[in-house]
Amino acid sequence: MTRHRILFVCLGNICRSPMAEGAFRRLVAERGMSDCFEIDSAGLGNWHEGQAPDSRAQQAAMRRGIDISTQSARQLRPDDFSRFDLILAMDASNHGDLRQLSPKNVHGKIRHFLDFAPQTGTREVPDPFFGEAEGFEHALDLIDAAAEGLLEALVPNSAVAKSGTQSFSG
Ligand code: 4NP
Repeated sequence: MTRHRILFVCLGNICRSPMAEGAFRRLVAERGMSDCFEIDSAGLGNWHEGQAPDSRAQQAAMRRGIDISTQSARQLRPDDFSRFDLILAMDASNHGDLRQLSPKNVHGKIRHFLDFAPQTGTREVPDPFFGEAEGFEHALDLIDAAAEGLLEALVPNSAVAKSGTQSFSG
């Protein structure tokens, strides 16, 4: 079985990438595919090392039934570039930093997360840290769309397969 190793990256690892990790983890679990994935998140900075996600991120995620309270922030490490198959940047600045920090031969693994949700018309999950609660909701809307697109890109038709199973058995 191919195990997909996915790393979500933002600046602080307390707002966007923890929400992305939680949303994608939940989606994969809903489709019964948790064993096929290794999912993690990291920050480019180390300011929040060891901290739980921002309480506003926790609340926004919890409103959608996603519990991210047990996550703990960590800074990106050099070995992440070899350990993960796909390294997903939350915005263009993160993407540029990741390319600068990484060896050239892994640049193909570094992608804009929102490229998996072209219908959103943006590549940026705006940083909600210095804003209001609405910013976290907007970030999660974008993240949810990209999580669906990412899973569809990696495992085509998983939604159809799952709903087919449900209707057949139920
Ligand atoms: P994140 O948000 O990158 O989505 O986790 C931020 C969190 C903290 C800071 C910046 C962005 N900070 O400057 O401390």
